[in-house]
Amino acid sequence: MKLETVKQHFEEQFGSPAGVAFAAPGRVNLIGEHTDYNGSFVFPGAIDKGMMAIIRPNGTDRVRAWSVDYREKVEFSMIEEDLPKASWARYLFGVCLEMIKRGKKPGGFDTAFAGDVPLGAGMSSSAALESVYGYGLNQLFSLDFDLMELARIGQATEHNYVGVKCGIMDQFISLFGKKDHLIRLDTRSMEFTYFPFRPQGYRLVLLDTLVKHELASSAYNKRRQSCEDAARAVRDNGYPHVEFLRDVSMDMLLEVREVISAEDFKRAQYVIEETERVLKVSDALEAEDYRTVGQMMYLTHYGMRDLYEVSCRELDFLNNVALECGVTGSRVMGGGFGGCTINLVEDALYEPFLDRAKEAFTREFGQEPKVYDVLISDGARRLF
Ligand code: GLA
Repeated sequence: MKLETVKQHFEEQFGSPAGVAFAAPGRVNLIGEHTDYNGSFVFPGAIDKGMMAIIRPNGTDRVRAWSVDYREKVEFSMIEEDLPKASWARYLFGVCLEMIKRGKKPGGFDTAFAGDVPLGAGMSSSAALESVYGYGLNQLFSLDFDLMELARIGQATEHNYVGVKCGIMDQFISLFGKKDHLIRLDTRSMEFTYFPFRPQGYRLVLLDTLVKHELASSAYNKRRQSCEDAARAVRDNGYPHVEFLRDVSMDMLLEVREVISAEDFKRAQYVIEETERVLKVSDALEAEDYRTVGQMMYLTHYGMRDLYEVSCRELDFLNNVALECGVTGSRVMGGGFGGCTINLVEDALYEPFLDRAKEAFTREFGQEPKVYDVLISDGARRLF
């Protein structure tokens, strides 16, 4: 999607001249999945795809928004009763309302936006949308939120206006991302470290199954509930310091095996193991040991498939093709229930792997998976 197109749409809808343009990216996550609401670590990077928005204050109290992708216009006032019906507009609405709850009100504005992060593919199009408006409105109306507050505003938008009880990873990375760097974020303390990431001889590629799980948000919230229940059971079992599963070891979890459901046990086991994997990957990245990084990615896939149960047949299929082709690392990325696999592929294997994946997937499921090459890029920014 070109900025020119968004500009054209803006001018058609609202008349010239266009306002100020902002962009915010989607993300990949190398490892550390479903750990961010367990007080643990994640390892994301912003990508060279995301959302673009043109915003112009309109001197009223109302917002008039045009979605280029949906060819749809929505207008609202920034009051709870005016919650828009269109799901895309709830993200904008939520960001405005969450800003107001924090004591700072953006003025009314006209806006057009578009994305080149596919919706629902696990690349965080929704966080990109929250971030582009959080960042843009903050600048245009001099609201003086810092980036961390903007990330919280995006997260609260998901919780309160979309119904997904997400962690902080996606909004954080969309704002803090840096070119050629992944970030290891400790979601309890919110301390973070930039890790240079330009693996010589490897490429990161996403394969999109095009599967979108209808009930993904309720299934996501259910996983989170399981984690909180398991952590509470351990806390009540003589470990009062336990706040999150981050604080729980496998031995501590085994002590409550009879008390919690078999399902909650599996979910918690996955989170405990995933936390260990993220730490191993940190060390491996420092040593530029991509073999270990890749092995951990496969183990994450198996954990998400067998213990956390957020994979699906299409994702498992692509993961298996990667394994058969000798791809260094491959796994389901993001929340799961469809979307993409992330693959760390040696340059020489790139073409044969993609050919084989496309051919085998089409034979099995009747359509090609989509391929996204990603470059690790900067976070939210002003374009002009
Ligand atoms: C979604 C959520 C994130 C995170 C991932 C899984 O992307 O928005 O907060 O929980 O799923 O790691």
